[in-house]
Amino acid sequence: MTSYKELGLVNTKELFKKAVSGGYAIPAYNFNNMEQMQAIIQACVETKSPVILQVSSGARKYANQNILKNMARGAVEYAHELGYDIPIVLHLDHGDSFELCKDCIETGFSSVMIDGSHLSYDENVALTKKVCELAHSQKDYVTVEGELGVLAGVEDDVSSEHSHYTQPSEVIDFVGKTKVDSLAISIGTSHGRAKFKPEQCTRDANGILIPPPLRFDILEEVEKQIPGFPIVLHGSSSVPIEYVHMIEKYGGKLTDSVGIPEEQLRKAAKSAVCKINIDSDGRLAMTALIRKILVEKPDEFDPRKILGPARDELKKLYSHKNQNVLGSAGRA
Ligand code: G3H
Ligand code: 13P
Ligand code: ZN
Repeated sequence: MTSYKELGLVNTKELFKKAVSGGYAIPAYNFNNMEQMQAIIQACVETKSPVILQVSSGARKYANQNILKNMARGAVEYAHELGYDIPIVLHLDHGDSFELCKDCIETGFSSVMIDGSHLSYDENVALTKKVCELAHSQKDYVTVEGELGVLAGVEDDVSSEHSHYTQPSEVIDFVGKTKVDSLAISIGTSHGRAKFKPEQCTRDANGILIPPPLRFDILEEVEKQIPGFPIVLHGSSSVPIEYVHMIEKYGGKLTDSVGIPEEQLRKAAKSAVCKINIDSDGRLAMTALIRKILVEKPDEFDPRKILGPARDELKKLYSHKNQNVLGSAGRA
């Protein structure tokens, strides 16, 4: 049993309280490898932003849970070495069972998500409550994120054909019965790099897809029901067209890519939305740079010369998000 405090991590409690009252959101960036972790920490130290390092069950399978745990410890030490101790959370993204959440809690995670959004309402309540009871009774309180409503989109371990918006009428009951610390809601975001079908979008003069706007009316209604309660947005990558173009220029094919416009995320971050999840944009930035280097330097075979520039681009992307989208810069 490792407590997250032994690793130098914090839970989300205080961070969310400050983010809700300060009108900004904490970045939750997914990581699976060393370069992603380094880029996240470099960007968050430089912009003085708190950060949630997010691990999916796919990441655990890919990288090994003990390695990820020790990378989180390394992230804390790395931030210190870079000269500024930012608050760092290690969070399980989309936990799909009590056992997985328990395992993460015992391995040093300071926060877990139990995603019962695909279950019936009553099953979701029962599972989320069970995870909260375990997490909250630890010597060091582990925070829990629950979810109501279903996001569309396809990732390795997260998939749903259609989205179902969160029903504001359910949130008081859900939060009261489960005792979750934060709630992920569905207001039109979705996972992955193709968030909407072309027929759901319009096109600008250059043929670029323009997505339908987020359902801010649902967000407002949720906020009326549970004022000041920490709200989470998943599926919040913006899918920058520059990266899509770069990937396609160097041999990739990413048909019908479309994300959530940054202005809409900035607007959400000013409300009770206090955690914004971003994974796909990092994947795009890394892939774009890797493809560029492999094409432009065909004699290069040192992985450091390929992954190093990709890491630099990632850092740039995360700094931009903290400063211009989430508003978390300067809040650590
Ligand atoms: O929401 C899902 C995250 O982007 C994680 O994706 O399960 O492929 O690691 P993954
Ligand atoms: P994106 O696919 O939009 O980056 O969303 C990531 C996410 O929600 C992780 O839980
Ligand atoms: Zn998600």
